[in-house]
Amino acid sequence: MRQILIAGNWKMNGSRASIRELLDGVKAGLGDVKSAEMAVCAPFPYLGDVQSQLNGSSVSWGGQDLSVEEKGAFTGETSASMLLDFSCKYVIVGHSERRTLYGEDDALVAQKYAVARKAGLKPILCVGETLEEREKNITEDVVARQIKAVIDLEGVSALADGVIAYEPVWAIGTGKTASPEQAQAVHAFIRSLVAEQDAGVAEKVQILYGGSMNPANAAELLSQSDIDGGLIGGASLKADDFLAIGKAAG
Ligand code: 13P
Repeated sequence: MRQILIAGNWKMNGSRASIRELLDGVKAGLGDVKSAEMAVCAPFPYLGDVQSQLNGSSVSWGGQDLSVEEKGAFTGETSASMLLDFSCKYVIVGHSERRTLYGEDDALVAQKYAVARKAGLKPILCVGETLEEREKNITEDVVARQIKAVIDLEGVSALADGVIAYEPVWAIGTGKTASPEQAQAVHAFIRSLVAEQDAGVAEKVQILYGGSMNPANAAELLSQSDIDGGLIGGASLKADDFLAIGKAAG
């Protein structure tokens, strides 16, 4: 059995005050979350606050992006070692917002995955198709290309050190969730793609679903055999909703 992971992606939301309140609420309700690992991916300036608030709790934390560079004249960038300095466990790489708004391509995302992994962070590799790509019936090609970029650079075993998040772009922040069957079909495809190269890694790798997951649809999504958790945007900003998704994991 793979561990269920419910990870919040706060994106560029919150303030010191609102995050304090959110994490107080999450910590207070953790007793109801029986089996899932809970994690939050915070904006960089708040990682210190998140660390001091979550230290000693069962909730993990991480960043939303990282630089491929180690250090130096790279204004605005954040390195893997800086994330480790705040005891981050996770870092998101290749979120669709980074790919589309900031022009990150598969090669750069694969490099970010490699840098995070080598530093000892667990990269959460986001993949997923746009609506146009789904309508053209090329969802599997797109997702395969995004995952193969990592395999080509690092070898399939690298996937065992991270997490994959399938996030159909058309479902992100739109209130339109992939149906459990649609999501399961892509998750199963991803696992079979990995299994072609290494059955052990395929069995082990956690594949999260992301895109308008909420307390109302989480249980059904999480009951699918190849869905091992969720990457939650909007609903992770409300303690009750985030906890309810964690509870829905059983
Ligand atoms: P929403 O849950 O707000 O749709 O966002 C999903 C997401 O992008 C998580 O990374």
